[in-house]
Amino acid sequence: MSMESIVSLCKRRGFLFQSSEIYGGLQGFWDYGPLGVELKRNVKEAWWSDMVSGHDDMSTLDGAPLPYSMEGLDCTILMHPQVWKCSGHYDLFHDYMVDCRETKKRYRHDQLNGRWVEAKGQKVFVAVAAGDDELEVMTKRALKFFKLRNKNIDDLKWDGDSVCLTSIDDLSQVVGPDAKTVGTLTEPREFNLMFKTYVGALSGEEGAAFMRPETAQGIFVNFKNVLDSTRHRLPLGIAQIGKSFRNEITPRNFTFRSREFEQMEIEFFCHPDQSQDWYRFWRDRRMAWYHQMGIGQERLIMREHAPDELAHYSVGTADIEYAFPFMADGEYGELEGVSHRGDFDLRSHMEGKLDESTKPLAVQLGEDGKPKYRGSGKDLSYRDDLTNEKYVPHVIEPSAGADRAALAFICEAYTEDQQPDEKGKMQTRTVMKFHPRLAPIKAAVLPLVKKDGMPEVAKEIYLDLKKNYKVFYDEKGAVGRRYRRQDEAGTPYCITVDGQTLEDKTVTIRDRDSLEQVRVKIDECEQVIRERMNG
Ligand code: GAP
Repeated sequence: MSMESIVSLCKRRGFLFQSSEIYGGLQGFWDYGPLGVELKRNVKEAWWSDMVSGHDDMSTLDGAPLPYSMEGLDCTILMHPQVWKCSGHYDLFHDYMVDCRETKKRYRHDQLNGRWVEAKGQKVFVAVAAGDDELEVMTKRALKFFKLRNKNIDDLKWDGDSVCLTSIDDLSQVVGPDAKTVGTLTEPREFNLMFKTYVGALSGEEGAAFMRPETAQGIFVNFKNVLDSTRHRLPLGIAQIGKSFRNEITPRNFTFRSREFEQMEIEFFCHPDQSQDWYRFWRDRRMAWYHQMGIGQERLIMREHAPDELAHYSVGTADIEYAFPFMADGEYGELEGVSHRGDFDLRSHMEGKLDESTKPLAVQLGEDGKPKYRGSGKDLSYRDDLTNEKYVPHVIEPSAGADRAALAFICEAYTEDQQPDEKGKMQTRTVMKFHPRLAPIKAAVLPLVKKDGMPEVAKEIYLDLKKNYKVFYDEKGAVGRRYRRQDEAGTPYCITVDGQTLEDKTVTIRDRDSLEQVRVKIDECEQVIRERMNG
């Protein structure tokens, strides 16, 4: 299956459109069409229902070390600028970029790979975007740079394997990914990924604010509010779904790396002594969730971060990664990170004072060795009313991207098989095999022909189902073609009203995946669909 076919289906069937397309689009921004918006809503609803509202807080399910509570929150996108100073984002949330003086293009330093190559007495490092067909692209670039033809390919003397540009100290002999000449890349520079804006009529730095780059901080700064208003005891998870913004240097791979995206995050507050158990619990629970929602075992992995990969706040992180079709063979892309954040965030938002116990985790230190920024001055610690123990909770954070999850479900669902058409000729059928909970449309109601009272009966069934489900009515064209359209939309069930319906009040239900058709009474239609969706 190719990424091109998936992208083309997404556009054709209304899953995803480029933002502001009629004006040429805006890089890194995507709109969800009629089918896409339903899919993404279903992803978020399944997550919220399974993790938050439907969570059983009376028992220990799925191997949880203890019963625990879950609550939700919906915070603003713009927050007090001090939030981002104390969280570390103001100083540390950056990537390194290089600019090309010739083409004016900008690249992420760690996303360029290249190889040394020599020809015509000159040795250069040919850089290309890391990813697919690097060697093929590098060869083409090298031939072009040395003004050689394909038949002279053996004149290229490669030296060493492909390496990341970050390992090259002197960029003067580097040929940039789109440049004609050598040495046009600038030295790498820090680039903060937060979008800056101005609040109110103040135009100067006094009014400066940042679009949140993660939903997590809204949860940390409201920890005490949630605790006091709900009177929960720990362990407690607080969940939030919402937009986040990052000014990514090189957004790419469809919605995988966008500049505006939605996150589904849980900050799980627990006793420090139990934090490792909870870390393991959440890694397993989140991995199992993707499997339950239809992602195949062989395409999902859990990868523990090496110490030098950890974010500034993290004591340990495991990524749940999916074999996206745009990744090279054997490579995976991050779907979700599960991090052990220790007490970094709550401490950072507290006093911002340094004492022995906070020292290892304190945010950016100033020249005097004290934290650069002061926290809120509020006490965000927790007192256990049974043991009377007072402590700053540790936090486990399962942080998922709603858009990345939706993209993974699209890629996983995309299937092509061979099926006979009305005349018995084998045709390629494109079918989106979404889990029924995620499918944008749950059922389509189709009168076999547009006469003999069939549309009237079909419309009645449609209006009845519509009260509880997203359903679709279609009476246009041959029924085989209508089935194909529903297969492409990922609709799990097609209900067909035919001649027999008028005699005995039964309809057929066609299953998208097995193509089996069963006959059921009209009155039982909804129950059959409900059972199949849940079963
Ligand atoms: N609060 C922790 C945090 O934000 P992250 O690994 O930077 O951690 C969490 O982001 C998840 O958000 C990622 O696993 C991914 O699913 C999603 N995400 C991050 N950046 C994204 C982007 N530029 N486009 C789409 N999704 C993104």
